[in-house]
Amino acid sequence: MNKPRLYSGMQPSADSLQIGNYIGALMQWRDLQQSYDAFFSVVDLHAITVAQDPAHLREKTRRTAAQYIAAGIEPSKSTLYVQSHVPAHPELAWILSTITGFGEAGRMTQFKDKSSRYGSDATSVGLFTYPVLMAADILLYQTDIVPVGDDQKQHVELTRDLAERFNSRFGQTFRVPTPVIQQETARIYDLQNPTAKMSKSAESDAGVLWLLDEPSKSAKKVMRAVTDSEGSVRYDRENKPGVSNLLVIYAALTGRQIPAIEDEYAGRGYGDFKKGLADVVVNEFGPVRERAMELLADPAELDRVLAANAAKAEEVANRTLADVYDRVGL
Ligand code: ADP
Ligand code: NA
Repeated sequence: MNKPRLYSGMQPSADSLQIGNYIGALMQWRDLQQSYDAFFSVVDLHAITVAQDPAHLREKTRRTAAQYIAAGIEPSKSTLYVQSHVPAHPELAWILSTITGFGEAGRMTQFKDKSSRYGSDATSVGLFTYPVLMAADILLYQTDIVPVGDDQKQHVELTRDLAERFNSRFGQTFRVPTPVIQQETARIYDLQNPTAKMSKSAESDAGVLWLLDEPSKSAKKVMRAVTDSEGSVRYDRENKPGVSNLLVIYAALTGRQIPAIEDEYAGRGYGDFKKGLADVVVNEFGPVRERAMELLADPAELDRVLAANAAKAEEVANRTLADVYDRVGL
C-alpha cells in the first residue's frame, strides 16, 4: 500500500528546540507520520548559509535529531535523517539553479529580509540560493505534502514552479508538492514579547521555552510571562496578546479547547492560571527532555540510527536524481 509522501525539516540552529517548534511542527509531524510516508530531515546544509562553528554545528545537528525522536518521531516508521548525509540534495540543487531565474530568486522575501539585516558582504550566495536547495529537498522525494510555517510558503511556491518548469521542459519527472500551512492557533509567541514569534534564534532567551531546559526553569519563565492589567483569563489576540499566547500553549499541550480553559480559570487570577500552565509545561516536557538526554548519552547508537535512515532516504533520492541526470543529458 502506498501512502502519500510528506517532507519537512528544521535547521539545527540551536542546542535546543523551542516549544513553538514542538507545537507548530513536531506535534503535527508525530500525527502525520501515521498516515503519510514521512521524511523528516535535519537540514544542516541550510544551517551553513550563515556563519557556524564546525564542532558546535555537529553537536546541534545530533541534538536536533534526538529531539525529533524524543518528541515522538519514530525512526523505524518515518525516515529521519541528516540532510548532508544524502549528497543528492546539493546535486539536485545545482541542476534546479540552472532553471531558476535570477530575478525570481531575488524576489524571495526571506532572503531580502535576512540580507538587508546582514549587509551585502556578510550575505552569502548560499543564502541567496537557499530556496533552490529547499526545492531540491522536497522534489527529490516525490513529495505530496510539505507542512510548513507561513514564512516558508513562498519557498514552496517556488518549488512548485520549478517542478512544473522542469517537467514541461524535460518530461514528467517531479511530483508537484502542496504546502500545508500551519494554523494560526499553532503559532507561539515570545513570552516576554508576545507579538514576536518565539524563535530558537531570538536575541534574548528570556521569553523562549526550550525543550531541553530544566523543567523548573521553564516553570519560572511561565510564571514571569508578560500579561496585562485586566486580570481575566480571556482570549483576545489583539488586546491581550500575552494571555492569549499562554492560552494557545495551554490548549495545544492539553488538547483542550480555549473556552473550556477560560471557564476553568474564570474569576481566578493570572497567578493560578500561570501555575496551571507551568504544571502542564513541566508534565509535557519533562519526559521529552529525559528521553532526549538518554539518546544523547549514547551518540554511537544515535549515529547508527541516523546512518540507517540516511541510507533509506538515499535510495529514494538517488532514483529521482538518476532520472533527472538522464533527462537533462548528463
Ligand atoms: P526557529 O524560528 O525556531 O528557528 P524555524 O524557522 O527553524 O524555527 O522553524 C522550524 C519549524 O518550527 C517550522 O515548521 C516552523 O513553522 C515551526 N515554528 C518555529 N517557530 C514557531 C512558533 N513560534 N510557533 C509555531 N511554530 C513555529
Ligand atoms: Na530558523
